[in-house]
Amino acid sequence: MSKDTVTLINNRDGKSYEFPILDATVGPSVINISTLYKETGMFTYDEGYTSTASCRSDITYIDGAAGKLMYRGYDIAYLAQEKTFLDTAYLLLNGDLPNKAELDNFSFEMQKRSFVNEGVKKLFDAFPDRAHPMAILSAGVSALSTFYFKHLEITNKEEYKEMANRIVAKIPTLAAFSYRYSQGLPIIYPDMNRGFTENFLYMLRSYPHNYVELRPIEIKALDTIFTLHADHEQNASTTAVRNLASTNAHPYAAISAGIGALWGKSHGGANESVIRQLEMIGSVDRVDKFIAKAKDKEDPFRLMGFGHRVYKNFDPRAGVLKKIRNELMGELGISSELVEVANKIEDIALSDEYFVSRGLYPNIDFYSGLILQALKIPKEMFAVIFVIGRTPGWIAQWSELNKQKSVKIARPRQLYVGSDDRTPEY
Ligand code: SDX
Repeated sequence: MSKDTVTLINNRDGKSYEFPILDATVGPSVINISTLYKETGMFTYDEGYTSTASCRSDITYIDGAAGKLMYRGYDIAYLAQEKTFLDTAYLLLNGDLPNKAELDNFSFEMQKRSFVNEGVKKLFDAFPDRAHPMAILSAGVSALSTFYFKHLEITNKEEYKEMANRIVAKIPTLAAFSYRYSQGLPIIYPDMNRGFTENFLYMLRSYPHNYVELRPIEIKALDTIFTLHADHEQNASTTAVRNLASTNAHPYAAISAGIGALWGKSHGGANESVIRQLEMIGSVDRVDKFIAKAKDKEDPFRLMGFGHRVYKNFDPRAGVLKKIRNELMGELGISSELVEVANKIEDIALSDEYFVSRGLYPNIDFYSGLILQALKIPKEMFAVIFVIGRTPGWIAQWSELNKQKSVKIARPRQLYVGSDDRTPEY
């Protein structure tokens, strides 16, 4: 425990204040300013929390400058290449990679718990055709709490394990059902003989009586995408989940809120926006026009799939996905027009001073959108894929906060810039 401090001097009254430095296992130390308001009568100000740590965590670590990402100390490239998504989900939920017996048991748990209560289907019937699957999924997850109400209070390891397995296993089924309902298609129940990722593709694509074509390269590509999305420190949707955890909200409410936050196109909705933007640009000869718009401060247009709050050199997940996209190119015939536009944008962004000086490199969403399209996953399901991958991370983060000896409810302050009291005499 460091005894070092940082001194803050207020040049208005010459007073100085000492704040302790807390050191990380790896990465930036923090200045503990929790007593700052009490000592100075002032708040700190940090819109979007660009320099603010909201919690202690031992789940995920990102080094934005080095383009490094670790889940519980394991590098993302190792997990993506050598392990499966279920290995990674188990690691996030339980703290260590599973041995063979633990993985087999976890995989059986996922198959067994993949079915949802038949009552949930009535909820789906309420939605109109073409309802966005993220809206259906968010409502469906929240509704699960009415069927599994004993999870509303998690008091021990067994209850945590059962809740975590239940939510991770049921979200792909809810996700596939959400899509099938939104298209007016018959739902396909999970198949106990298929693995986690294969089962999701099967429920999404199959027709009754088992007609479906699933290639190993597709299953592996999607499994890797789930792994790459599984957690990412205190991003916006994880912050939403932890905020609900701090109010003692149950996991279904927290995950439903995380889905809502992730849906934003600056966050998990970006991969759907990437494809829509590439389709809108349409051809290589229109790319320069939109690059100019992205650089124009007066123009709200932004290049979807570029930039990241933390990665200012490259997003290591994008590197893994770029390799998969290139492997899939021949195999699955990603539309060449779209890829040519994407390649032109990427080439410009990697050399143009505007992007390079701001550290705006292709992020995970730039490549995941192209791969998901090659896997014939509908655009409106892209953010849903992100949810399936991120759910183990959200649950691990929800649980980490709840395991703290004392939980402080998330309640930031503000810089008030409104009217002074102007209440008339009355
Ligand atoms: C995800 O946080 C996470 O970990 C998220 C995520 C996860 O796994 O959970 O990694 C998943 O959300 C990835 C990001 C997906 N979003 C997009 O691809 C949408 C496009 N990107 C931008 O919206 C933006 O880059 C953000 C939101 C991703 C990051 O925004 P920041 O860190 O708040 O950066 P900023 O808005 O302060 O921008 C810095 C500068 C600004 O210019 P100046 O004011 O300095 O002149 O870069 C510019 C911005 O205008 N800029 C862009 C741009 N992104 C930032 N200019 C053009 N196109 C862009 N995409």
